[in-house]
Amino acid sequence: MSAVPPYRPQQRSTPPECSSAPSAPTAPAEPPSLARDALVAQLRDAGCVFAEDEAALLLAAARDSAELSAMAGRRAAGLPLEHVLGWAEFCGLRIAVEPGVFVPRRRSELLVRQAASVTRPGALVVDLCCGSGALGAALAASVASRTQEDGEPGARLPGGRIELHAADLDGAAVRCARRNVAEAGGRVHEGDLFDALPAGLRARVAVLLANVPYVPTSSLGLLPAEARVHEPRRALDGGDDGLGVLRRVTAEAPRWLAPGGCLLTETSEAQADAAAAVMENDGLAVRIDRCEESGATVLTGTRPAAGARPAPEA
Ligand SMILES: C[S@@+](CC[C@H](N)C(=O)[O-])C[C@H]1O[C@@H](n2cnc3c(N)ncnc32)[C@H](O)[C@@H]1O
Repeated sequence: MSAVPPYRPQQRSTPPECSSAPSAPTAPAEPPSLARDALVAQLRDAGCVFAEDEAALLLAAARDSAELSAMAGRRAAGLPLEHVLGWAEFCGLRIAVEPGVFVPRRRSELLVRQAASVTRPGALVVDLCCGSGALGAALAASVASRTQEDGEPGARLPGGRIELHAADLDGAAVRCARRNVAEAGGRVHEGDLFDALPAGLRARVAVLLANVPYVPTSSLGLLPAEARVHEPRRALDGGDDGLGVLRRVTAEAPRWLAPGGCLLTETSEAQADAAAAVMENDGLAVRIDRCEESGATVLTGTRPAAGARPAPEA
């Protein structure tokens, strides 16, 4: 993971289910010989909506015309741009993404912002279902930069770091996440949900990020081909109502969260109330935040602090 070099802000609109293309750099270095116009035309013919921006990114990434031609061919064949480039832009970071690994969506930046608002330097953070590890890496970077700006004391860890653990079932995702959380000193575990985590984290987790798969099985066929064909089904499929994996996470979360700790998850707008009911049923106090621009919905479920009494009934 590395910081993205200066880029111009995104002005374009992106279909909501699609991951957005990373921003184009302002000055691609020495374009290889394949003419830019021909590249744009090739991408446009293949149905790429942001053909000009994508061409600029491919031109900047390719080391020679043979590599450019191969990259353009993979993109024209439908591979997500991020898989062709090998990285995705997320929260201002360049996140490594290998083929077969879920591409972090720009809408998930709301989840990171909400998490940052409840994360203290030194906090124990777990990124469950971490995929590329984008959420944990971005949260770590956000807390570190805030600490530097505010002079907030960095608790037990140097430089305002958080103590970061991430986990995923998928070996390719785990490999990718290891690259992306290395700078934050994070550790990545492989396995099924909480089974992957060291037992010593129980009842100590201050912030639990869990962007679990949440597409209802019957809706998988409606996803754009980039997701449907090129991302693993288990990264997308949330079961009958899309909340199957979330139910498993919330059922166990109270045993892993410290008193006052938070579970943060993302759903579609249509699922938000049902997801909130699942979390409340497992003893968490839920708050829902939305971002109209990106269409993101984030639920934050807080484990009551020790000794907290339930609110009196109205
Ligand atoms: C929607 S993707 C989110 C990835 C990442 N958190 C992000 O926002 O970019 C869901 C991830 O959950 C993982 N996953 C699905 N079922 C899992 C399970 N039972 N245990 C651990 N990870 C699982 C998938 O491999 C995939 O990487």
